[in-house]
Amino acid sequence: MEIDVLTLFPEWFSWFAAQRPIANALAAGSALRAVSYRDYTPLAGGQVDDTPFGGGPGMVLRVDVVDAALRSLYGRDALELHGQRRIVALTPSGRLLDDALASELAGERAITLLSGRYEGFDERVIDHLATDAVSIGRYVLAGGELAAMVVCDAVMRKLPGALGDCRSAIEESFSPVLGGAPEYPHYTRPASYRGWSVPDVLVSGHHEQIRAWRAAQSAQRGSGGGPGGSLP
Ligand code: ADE
Repeated sequence: MEIDVLTLFPEWFSWFAAQRPIANALAAGSALRAVSYRDYTPLAGGQVDDTPFGGGPGMVLRVDVVDAALRSLYGRDALELHGQRRIVALTPSGRLLDDALASELAGERAITLLSGRYEGFDERVIDHLATDAVSIGRYVLAGGELAAMVVCDAVMRKLPGALGDCRSAIEESFSPVLGGAPEYPHYTRPASYRGWSVPDVLVSGHHEQIRAWRAAQSAQRGSGGGPGGSLP
């Protein structure tokens, strides 16, 4: 899989690309490229943003700058790219990232992540240049870079070779195997610590009972009965 990130801070992604599971996915043949809007802006002095029409604080990433960056990177008009690659604008008001969306994106051959800064994008970026608008949560970050990293992590860990044990990505929280519910709790040694004991069933050696216990725990968490409070 090929992921391109358009950003004002491409250097942030050097560290990120060296971390697992990203590094594993890259070693297994995927590509992650971070490019700066400034390298492609047609405006003088590396300008990429402007003040909002109608007034108000902050700066808005310009539609012509994003358009020019996409055209330079891919050698064709952004609208011609639709259907060939998902162009995902990261914005607090977008579709909420969940496991289903991460799986959907992991099935793509190539995606482009557009990070905004300041007050975000000129809305025409989202309306016309992007194929998707994605949010990692209903809060506002200083920019889309961390959101792009979250999307990359959630997507790339699903790729073959990204995790040490490929079963980890199959039976995990919110996966279809668990019916979309959170994962069951895990324990390791010591079996008893400060009087806090591991559930007997897990050290019983009865695989069928362990499977049933885990399924019940996962279902209970999914119905809001587990730690971390109620789910919607
Ligand atoms: N950019 C700023 N905040 C964001 C969020 N919550 N999700 C995605 N992109 C963002």
